[in-house]
Amino acid sequence: MQTDVQDMYRRLKARLDRVVPDFELRLKAEVAVEIMRLKQERNAVILGHNYMEPALYHSICDFVGDSLELSRRAAETDKSVIVFCGVKFMAETAKILSPQKTVLLPSQKGGCSLAAGITAEDVRALKRQFPGVPVVTYVNTYADVKAETDVCCTSGNAAEVVRSLDSDAVIFLPDEYLGRNVARETGRTFYMPTPDLTPAQLQRPCLIGWKARCEVHERFTADDVHRAHEHFPAVQVLAHPECTPEVTAAADFAGSTAAMVRFVKESKAPRFLLLTECSMADNIMAENPDKEMVRMCSLRCPHMNEITMQDTRDALKFMRYVIEVPEDIRVRAHAAVARMIAIRGGTTGYAKP
Ligand code: 13P
Ligand code: SF4
Repeated sequence: MQTDVQDMYRRLKARLDRVVPDFELRLKAEVAVEIMRLKQERNAVILGHNYMEPALYHSICDFVGDSLELSRRAAETDKSVIVFCGVKFMAETAKILSPQKTVLLPSQKGGCSLAAGITAEDVRALKRQFPGVPVVTYVNTYADVKAETDVCCTSGNAAEVVRSLDSDAVIFLPDEYLGRNVARETGRTFYMPTPDLTPAQLQRPCLIGWKARCEVHERFTADDVHRAHEHFPAVQVLAHPECTPEVTAAADFAGSTAAMVRFVKESKAPRFLLLTECSMADNIMAENPDKEMVRMCSLRCPHMNEITMQDTRDALKFMRYVIEVPEDIRVRAHAAVARMIAIRGGTTGYAKP
């Protein structure tokens, strides 16, 4: 083994011994060293979402975090190339913020059921149905949808963004469950729009939502939370706000991926169950060797799973897959994302009702 591969292997072994088998660490240490070399040659920065697999997450990323933190990082970097180890809507957000940079996504299959669940025409139709009502769009959407939006939000700042609008009706898209959780958090009635719902019928303050859902988080149930509390003494159950309101209400804490990371770090509890994408529990476990993660309801996001270290290496080697956003869409989407970034704070998590 070359010295730099050996060093990388030792570093990964020290951090990931409890979560990744040895043969995998040896293999990935080699790929990680190649990536570090290419990263320097290409003057690139690598941003990694909290859902990246543990070896990738702990070896090659310059910054890791939730989608809010990573969009801030993408706006601030002075590197000429951004490799986004996440899904397409995240890489598009980086391109919207940094149009002069080359943004690469390692796999063309990194989609998202929320982003696929709404079109720009859907948003235009809602604006015609509810004229003058401001539109908040979750960042888990494509650029043409963001372009129809007044302000974006992430799961880390959604309630703050809604409050900042000072409007008694808000269109909140596209995640039904995040919308219902935010409505509860901000004391608003939630409406699922039907073709015959009129502005005059709205009981205000309210949120008008949409029917898209995260294919991972929609599968957790309140029963999962109750069973965890029943079977594991002193367990703290954490849920992402893309889970149903029944799940977030039953959980001990609900918040964005970054808020969950922070909660575990700061908590004195001995063990945790994370109702979110399962790589995150591995990543947290590696960083908090004194804490235990309960293995239950392990669900991997199939889109995040597409981002491998080998594909990340090839992204830098062949400068693929380049993310482009048409300039007229980018400019309008930029206004919505920039408004969100200007609202400081975020990643605070949602208080239990
Ligand atoms: P965060 O905004 O918490 O990073 O979540 C993004 C996501 O895709 C959750 O499924
Ligand atoms: Fe989309 Fe859900 Fe995957 Fe997040 S976990 S990228 S919301 S499908």
